[in-house]
Amino acid sequence: MSILFINGSPRRQGNTATLGDRLLTGIPHTTLSLADYQLNFVQDQRETKQPQRNLTDDYEQLMTTYFAPASDIVLGTPVYWYGMTGQLKVFMDRWFDSFSHDFPFADKRIYLLIVGADQPEIKATGITQAVLNSCDWLKMNFCGTGIVTADGPQDVANLVTLPANCQTLRRKIKTNTK
Ligand SMILES: Cc1cc2nc3c(=O)[nH]c(=O)nc-3n(C[C@H](O)[C@H](O)[C@H](O)COP(=O)(O)O)c2cc1C
Repeated sequence: MSILFINGSPRRQGNTATLGDRLLTGIPHTTLSLADYQLNFVQDQRETKQPQRNLTDDYEQLMTTYFAPASDIVLGTPVYWYGMTGQLKVFMDRWFDSFSHDFPFADKRIYLLIVGADQPEIKATGITQAVLNSCDWLKMNFCGTGIVTADGPQDVANLVTLPANCQTLRRKIKTNTK
């Protein structure tokens, strides 16, 4: 069992990063920040003779080094315009490259962390829908969402306790990786 936390925020030490740290306190895991890597937009090569693959950026290395060995993956994103950040969206778009080359997505467990300033539990439900449906399509198991309302970079650090939905997610991760 190995746990990977992927931070989709451009703030490397912001709320999403802190939420991931707090969710996984005492649970061995690896963290990576998508902002530290070059990720190019996906190209749709389906109607061309070009391979559905781009070896000119860091995507393949991320998938081979971090994603492939992980059994449990926590995706974290701030809410940007009521959706996920571009960083996470570009990363997920590129899953189509991996899918096209038989990457072993199946049976990985995916957890989602969302941080937003404007009622994210009501207004950012589209993020959960997108991740859940993507997991279904790739035969991964979507295990739930933890949502926190926060804006300033220290807001999550200043929370006395995490919301109940995050605590539930933490219990699930512990049970699944026991
Ligand atoms: C470009 C941009 C767009 C944002 N759009 C939203 C939004 O649509 N809804 C929302 O609730 N918060 C929005 N926010 C606020 C962030 O979600 C919030 O500040 C969050 O805590 C940032 O997390 P981070 O510190 O991990 O980057 C936006 C912030 C930025 C910079």
